[in-house]
This record gives sequence, C-alpha cells and structure tokens, in this order.
Amino acid sequence: MFFIITERVKLSMVKLRTVYICQSCGYQSPKWMGKCPDCNQWNSLVEETAFEEKRGLKVFGCETSFQAGSAPQPITTLEVKEEDRLKTGIGELDRVLGGGIVLGSAVLIGGDPGIGKSTLMLQAMARLAANGERVLYVSGEESPKQTKIRGERLGVTSENLFIYAENTLERILDSVKKLKPGILIVDSIQTIYTQTLESSPGSVSQVRETSSQLIFNAKGMDMPLFIVGHVTKDGAIAGPRVLEHMVDTVLYFEGERGHQFRILRAVKNRYGSVMEIGVFEMRDKGLLEVVNPSALFLAERPQNASGSVVVSSLEGTRPILVEIQSLICPAIFGIPKRTVVGIDYNRVALLTAVLEKKGGLNIQNHDIFLKVTGGIRLEEPAIDLGIIASLASNFLDKPIPQKTVVFGEVGLAGEVRGISQAEPRINEAEKLGFDRCILPKDNMTKIKGRGPLELIGVTSVKEMMDVLF
Ligand code: TYD
Ligand code: MG
Repeated sequence: MFFIITERVKLSMVKLRTVYICQSCGYQSPKWMGKCPDCNQWNSLVEETAFEEKRGLKVFGCETSFQAGSAPQPITTLEVKEEDRLKTGIGELDRVLGGGIVLGSAVLIGGDPGIGKSTLMLQAMARLAANGERVLYVSGEESPKQTKIRGERLGVTSENLFIYAENTLERILDSVKKLKPGILIVDSIQTIYTQTLESSPGSVSQVRETSSQLIFNAKGMDMPLFIVGHVTKDGAIAGPRVLEHMVDTVLYFEGERGHQFRILRAVKNRYGSVMEIGVFEMRDKGLLEVVNPSALFLAERPQNASGSVVVSSLEGTRPILVEIQSLICPAIFGIPKRTVVGIDYNRVALLTAVLEKKGGLNIQNHDIFLKVTGGIRLEEPAIDLGIIASLASNFLDKPIPQKTVVFGEVGLAGEVRGISQAEPRINEAEKLGFDRCILPKDNMTKIKGRGPLELIGVTSVKEMMDVLF
C-alpha cells in the first residue's frame, strides 16, 4: 500500500505541460501565436507535450558514449589515418563528403520527396556492403519487400546489407546493438519516433530527440550514420534547423522534376569543402554518376542564339561550364518585369544597372528574363561578366560565338575584377573544345602562354562589349 502511494506521488511530480513549438526552427512558447517571433514563419507553431522534469540524454541499448572515459589530450598526439574514411566507390558522393565517409560522423541528406535520396543511399550502401561492410538500412517508409524490389532494379545483391522496416527508436537502437553494423542509414527521420515523447512522428520534438539519440549512439560506436530528411516547400529540412546543428555534414539532393540531372550539394561539412557538388543522372536503373558535367550541361545548347553564353563557375574544387540564357523584351505595362532562374535576383538587378550605366544600353525599362540551363544554381562572382554578356547579346540581338567562354567579376564602376583559379577554368574550356576565352586582364598576367585557346583580357564592361559585339 505504501509503495503505491509513493509511486503516485512520484508520478504527479513529473508534470506534463503543453507547449507550442515552431516546426521550422524549434522555438517554444507557452501560448499559441500566428507567427514565430524567432524565424518569422507564419502558422508554424504546433501544440506538443513536454515534460516539466529536465530530461538528460538517455542512451538506449548501448552502454558506450563518445564522451565516456575520454580525457583531454594534446592535439599532436591524436592520430587520424587515411583509412578512417570509408569510400563508397561512387566518386561524386565521396567527393561531396570530402573524400569518403568519416567513421562516427553523422550525415543528413535532405531533398524533395521523390528526388532520389533512398535510391542514392541504397546504391551507395550496396557498394559498401559488397566490399564487406555490414550495413543496416532502416526504412520507416517502405516495407522490406518494397526495398527489395527497388534493390533488384538497382542490381543490389549482398548478404551484408540488412533491411529493417521499423519506426520506433528504441527497437532500432536495440537492433543496432545486436547487429553491430559498420554503418547505419535511417530513412527518413520524419517517420521515426520515440515512445518517451507523446508528440507525433515528424514533429520538432520527435525529430530532435530521435536524431540526438541516434547521433549519440553512432558516435559512441564510431559508426557512420546517414539520416535522410524531407524538405518543406520553402526548401528547409522539414522540422528543425536544430537538426542541421547536430550533424557533422548536411547534404542537399536537388534537381528539377522534369530534368534527369540531380545535384548533391554540401551545405555544411565538418570534414570537407562546402562548395563541392556531385552530379548524377536518374536512369531506369538508378542514379548514374556524371563524370563530365560541363559536357552534359552544354549538350543541348542552341546554335547562334543571341543571349546564350557559356560561363565557368567553380563548384568546389571543380570548374563547370554552364550556359546562361537571357531574353529581353520591351515592357508593355508599368513596371518592367524581371524573372531570374538559377541566379540571385538582386545580383541580376545590380548587373542590369551596371550594363545600363556603364555599357550604355538602355535596358532598364525592358522586361528581363534570365535562366541558367540544366537546373543548376550559380552563386560564384566569376559569372558576373557572363550575365552582362548574355543580357547585352540578347538586347543587341548579336549572338556570342559558339566556342567562346566568358568569366570575371564585375564591380559597380563597370570594372572587371580578377577572380580565383583562372587556370583550371581555362583548362576545362580547352578540354571541351572552346577556342576563345574572355577573362579579367588581372588574371592574364599569371597565366603562361597557352595552346590553341585564345585568351582576351578585359578591364571593363565596355571593353568586353567592344571585343564581343
Ligand atoms: P526515391 O529514391 O524513392 O526518392 P526519395 O527517397 O528522395 O523520396 O526516388 C524515386 C524516384 O526516382 C521515382 O520518381 C522513380 C525514380 N527512379 C528512377 O527513375 N529509376 C530508378 O532506378 C529508381 C530506383 C527510381
Ligand atoms: Mg525515400
């Protein structure tokens, strides 16, 4: 009798409390609000149950933790060997990861539904399993049979690849403890829940709690962990930005629906460059690496079309040649329209003003449409000169010669500024058969004499226009 009373007293001490949690950034509020004051998202606060009691990080199933027993050590005595990275054998994926999967690292792969995250994971893991690595693939979305059917299509046959259809965190951690896999995939984190929380799977508290438990256990076992996450309409990984802070690497898998190209982009990487991209093509037998993306992006380029220009953009360590197209028409009503796909809108507005003022073209009161082909997004400053060349070419209706590549940064005074890594860009253009390159004069001084490719250095927008038109 006495026991029951104390249990009751104890239970009443752990008070349940209702909080409203922003599903976008994790902000908590005791009352409902229409707009999150932290991330300014509308209608993102959802009612969830929280424990009053402060809960520590519980470790289910595994005794080890990556903090236990470790003492401060001088950095010089720590050893890191090249073998500490697992190579998947898919070159594009390994490069984006910074040269392979680091043991004990947590990687988040985000992307729109249906873009190919599960396919990429299954293909990469099949390769690792074939090399003798024990892989546990937890699927919260598909039954083992469905995964098997997909695997057959992709030609996956390995006894080391274990498929587990499960949604509860506790069971997943139990099976990790039993199976002791060399690598763990959780597809997707929005379908996993822990029984210790009352909120539904996919809510911020569930995603945060389950992923922190998974990461904690993976680090303790030195086991790499891949977490697959869905992306919301506006491009953030559904639920929490908090998740991005918890993992070591965040990769986005993107691409346009109608296109077969898929681009894997690192947006955070504790073990490599975040500028790196990997290019894939979705085929009927799964994802295929694209080893030479420039050739692919330029494959369907129109002949002698005004407004079409090839620029060189450095994506990570690799220069990629991409086509930019523009279309300029007189604005019929009121404010001229600007539509930009694949480049920052404000940057195009800025360069349009430079072209008007310094290039002497009266384009401000025209509708401007600008597009990067192939579904890729460019952010590098070196494409400035290409954007201006494209706009001028279409406005003047004078095509830029087919085998000319343009790159350079443009300042507000209309000056063309030097950019980094001119040499690899020129090499790439030469490899693809281009015969002329317009680049900043500043970069010319550092480049030694070259073969068939003609280099033309320019110092201003005006000078570039004199060369081209
Ligand atoms: P999937 O990996 O299921 O996407 P995600 O996990 O990101 O939601 O990819 C599914 C899409 O890819 C689907 O629309 C069909 C297509 N696909 C192919 O074109 N070829 C293939 O071999 C496979 C397995 C999928
Ligand atoms: Mg999937």
